[in-house]
Amino acid sequence: MEILIPAERIQSRVAEMATDIARVYNGKPVTVVGILTGCLMFTADLIRRIDLPLRVGFLTASSYRGPTTVASKLIIRDDLLPDISGRHILLLDDILDTGKTLTRVVAHLIDRGAEAVKVAVLLRKIGRQEVPFEPDFVGFTIPDQFVVGYGLDFNDEYRHLPDIAVLQASEPR
Ligand code: XMP
Repeated sequence: MEILIPAERIQSRVAEMATDIARVYNGKPVTVVGILTGCLMFTADLIRRIDLPLRVGFLTASSYRGPTTVASKLIIRDDLLPDISGRHILLLDDILDTGKTLTRVVAHLIDRGAEAVKVAVLLRKIGRQEVPFEPDFVGFTIPDQFVVGYGLDFNDEYRHLPDIAVLQASEPR
């Protein structure tokens, strides 16, 4: 597989993001909410570098099944989430693609009583967005290619790779 972003670059960019995030929140307590499962490594690496009073929770939002699947109904499960009412939420996702997932999850968190929601994504794909959505923090902007590794999967494989790689159409799927 072609490596798009090597592990060392991911680590240094995540460290920069953590510094930006701490500066923006300026000592205010934050509840980090990761969208499983893709956010796994991003969340683990980022929170260890954020110098703020911090709580962590996770939710799942599923609809995406592969490169050709059209996201339709999004099922959000938040039973693992701590109480978020009145909290400042930093929502983490692995990749911003069409923007539908994050738009809906942000609305869901506000519905659940969050005071405010900011969003950090590790990756943002160029030319794919279908709904207007501006994340507050972006790690890398990438071309419109299907990527795996560092938490990102294809059929639940490749998540454990330390780099982010492009899954070629000819690759065994
Ligand atoms: P939307 O379209 O709602 O989708 O912004 C975001 C979710 O789609 C998945 N996604 C990918 N997963 N490689 C992946 O492993 C990719 O290139 C890719 N593009 C989108 C991902 O779950 C993300 O949270």
